[in-house]
Amino acid sequence: MNYSMEPGEIPVGMVGLGLMGSSITVCMLISGHPVIGVEPVSENVVISFQRIREYLDIAWQKGLVSEKPEAYLARLTLSDDFDTLGPAKIVIESVKEDLDIKRQVFNKIDKVVGTDTIISSNTSAIPISDLQRFVSFPQRFFGLHWMQPAHTTRFLEIICGEQSDRSIADYLYKLAEKWDKEPVLVKKDIRGFIGNRLMYAMYREALHLVQEDYATVEDVDRACRNVAGYFIPMVGVFRWMDFTGIGAYYTVMKELFPTLSNAQAPNALISKIVEEGGNGVFNGKGFYDYTEEERRLWEEAYSRFTYDIRELALKYPHDVVKKALQQDEGSDLPEQSTLL
Ligand SMILES: NC(=O)c1ccc[n+]([C@@H]2O[C@H](COP(=O)([O-])OP(=O)(O)OC[C@H]3O[C@@H](n4cnc5c(N)ncnc54)[C@H](O)[C@@H]3O)[C@@H](O)[C@H]2O)c1
Repeated sequence: MNYSMEPGEIPVGMVGLGLMGSSITVCMLISGHPVIGVEPVSENVVISFQRIREYLDIAWQKGLVSEKPEAYLARLTLSDDFDTLGPAKIVIESVKEDLDIKRQVFNKIDKVVGTDTIISSNTSAIPISDLQRFVSFPQRFFGLHWMQPAHTTRFLEIICGEQSDRSIADYLYKLAEKWDKEPVLVKKDIRGFIGNRLMYAMYREALHLVQEDYATVEDVDRACRNVAGYFIPMVGVFRWMDFTGIGAYYTVMKELFPTLSNAQAPNALISKIVEEGGNGVFNGKGFYDYTEEERRLWEEAYSRFTYDIRELALKYPHDVVKKALQQDEGSDLPEQSTLL
């Protein structure tokens, strides 16, 4: 594979066009790639196309893309036929989170793609080192872990398994910037990767606080929204500690860490919801209850929010200060940067 090619010259094979696969497809199309979509479940092909079209319609209405949906759809082929994947230079798998299903899918992909094709999985939690055993060239296999909806979010983890070639991971890292991502390289395979490990540490503590009756579900959400929510999109974790006094964190950690939940299993709060068939906004029963109208309005509001938070994230990228300094270069006493 020629690593200097532009996205327009790199056909991407997208396997599994469910919720995530459809939004990853949109991300690839708007980044300029031709996309060969394969939806393994034949009866889902039509609905997948409709979903992609709907994402593109909204992206056009919101000004995320410069061309009408037809311009992007012209670069998409969609079928249930794995043989169409032949020309793909990068394949992204996003089928159901089930090891056996993924094994069957990778066996099929492996049979039809070229010897230099990069193969990747959007698995949420299966170790990449396990999945890469299902293909003939494991050194070209990686995790590409996206966040829904993949065409508006900026998160992307590039995960190396035990046998992955680091130089190809570095290439994907650079390419991901052309996908408008702020990529994260996971140098060594670890269950849950980076983003989910951080989030699950917080889910565990949140479940613990409510289960032990320290606060309500709603108030824990309020604390999270108004503490983490006010700094994380700008500075993350470590820069936040740099900003606010490392010494104090060190002192508090010594006292607080032993009191944090280290539960080894999901607690009764979430177990009860799951056992009773609760599925959150999808069926109106979760940590909160939703009427049909509330469900719809929450989904609409969240969809709007994904565009608003994207604007803010683009205004304050990880290198906002570096960019400001470059802009001010040459002046003796830099004025406040126009970026800031
Ligand atoms: N939903 C998220 O926010 C999210 C985030 C990151 C990663 N993921 C991961 O992405 C992958 C897909 O998740 P999703 O949320 O899009 O799920 P989904 O249910 O919307 O889509 C699942 C896809 O798998 C296909 N499928 C189902 N049964 C199959 C079978 N027997 N053989 C082949 N294909 C089959 C479906 O047709 C569909 O294309 C999973 O590995 C999931 O863990 C999801």
